[in-house]
Amino acid sequence: MKKVAGNPYIIKEDSNLFLDSVPLIEIIKKFKTPLLLFLENRIRDNIKTFINVFNSEFDTFHCYYSFKANYLPEICKIVQSEGIGAEVVSLPELKLALKLGFPSNKIIVGGPYLSKKLIELSIKNKIKEIIIYDLNDLKKVNLIAQRYGYIQNICIRVNSQKYKSKLGIKIDPKEMKEFAKIYKNYQNIKIKSILSHYSTQMNNINQYKQNISSIAHNLNLFSEIGINIKNINLGGGFPEATIIPQNQLKLITKKIKSILQQYKVKYKKIYFEPGRYFLGDAGLFITKIIRVGENRWVFLNIGNHICPKFAKCSLRFYNASKINEPHKYKTSIAGIIPTDQDVLAKDYFFTEKLIKGDKVLIANTGAYCLTFSNRFPYLLPKILLIHDNSLNIIFDPHNDGDFSLN
Ligand SMILES: Cc1ncc(COP(=O)(O)O)c(C=O)c1O
Repeated sequence: MKKVAGNPYIIKEDSNLFLDSVPLIEIIKKFKTPLLLFLENRIRDNIKTFINVFNSEFDTFHCYYSFKANYLPEICKIVQSEGIGAEVVSLPELKLALKLGFPSNKIIVGGPYLSKKLIELSIKNKIKEIIIYDLNDLKKVNLIAQRYGYIQNICIRVNSQKYKSKLGIKIDPKEMKEFAKIYKNYQNIKIKSILSHYSTQMNNINQYKQNISSIAHNLNLFSEIGINIKNINLGGGFPEATIIPQNQLKLITKKIKSILQQYKVKYKKIYFEPGRYFLGDAGLFITKIIRVGENRWVFLNIGNHICPKFAKCSLRFYNASKINEPHKYKTSIAGIIPTDQDVLAKDYFFTEKLIKGDKVLIANTGAYCLTFSNRFPYLLPKILLIHDNSLNIIFDPHNDGDFSLN
C-alpha cells in the first residue's frame, strides 16, 4: 500500500487505486469523467489536526472556516459537525451557514462589500462579529444596529502591508484622532477584534511574521487613541495539509506564538480562518486524456474553467490508467478551453506512454476550484462524496443545474 500525492486516502495497492475504501475502477465503471470527488475522512482528519495543533499552543484559540474556499453545502455540513465556526463574505454564504445550523455566536461576517441586507441579517441573527474592510462601513453598521436597538461587535480588517495588497484598512496615523472623535459618536458598535490576512499557500514563517507585524502596528495605533482591541484574528493562508505536514504546522504554530510575544502583542482570544488547509487535499478530479498532441502535450476533458490557476492549488497529476508506470517523463497538460492559454501544467513528470482515453487523477483540487470556476460552456462535472466505502452524489448538473449559492 502506497500513498498517492502524500494523501492517506488515495492509496495504490498493486496496480489498483483506492479512494478511501472505494476502488477507483468501480467509480470509473459507474460514472463518466470528468468527476470531482471529495474525501470526507480527509476533511475530518485535517480539521482535527488543525484544532489539536493550535489548541496545544493557544488557550484561547477559536477557529472559523472560510466558506469561500468551498461552499458546497455537504462540505460545509461536515465542517459544522466538527464544531468549527464560519467566516462568510456574502448574503448567500450567511444564509447557508444559518441553514446548516452554525450557531450565530460562531459566525463572523465581513468583506469588501457589506450590503444593507447582509448587515441586517447579521444583526437580526446576533452573529458574533461584522468584519469591516472600509472605515466608512462603520457608519452603515452603526445606523442599522441603532435601528434594531442592538450593539454590534466589530472586527477591523487592516491591510497586511503585503506588496500591492489592496484589501483592508490602511490606517493613517495622522487621521486617528479624528477617527476617535467619530467613533465616540457610534453608540451601537464596539470594536472587539482586529484581522490581518496576509496571503495564500504560506509556507514561509516570514509571511506569518509580516502578518503579525501588521497586527502589532495597528493595535498600537488604536491603543494610542484609547481603543484597546481585545482579540486578534490572523486569517488563513495555510497550504494543503499534504503540503504542510502536522510537524511543520506545529512548528509554524510555535513560531507564531513566539513572534506574538516578540512583538508584545496582548490579546484575549486568537482567531484563525483556515479554508484551504481543511479541504484542499480532500478534493480530486478524475479526468481523461482526449488528445495526445506533438511534443508530449496532452489535452484533458477539463481545463481552467473548473480547475483554475486563480485557485492556486498545489496540483499533482497521475496517470490513473498506468499508475504503476514511472512518472518521470516531462509532459505538458492542456485543458479543454479553446485558447492556447488553457495550460494546466508544463513539463510535468508523467508516464512515458500517453494514450487517448487514459484516466488522469488530479490531486489537491478541494479548495477554490469551484469558487474561481467560470462559465465556459462545458457541462459541469458530477461531484461525489466518498466516506469509507460509500459514495454519494452531492451535485449532479443534470438535476441541480449549478452549484452556485443564491
Ligand atoms: C480574510 C480571509 N480569511 C481567510 C481566508 C482563507 O484563506 P485560506 O483558504 O488560504 O486558508 C482568506 C482567503 O482569501 C481571507 O481573505
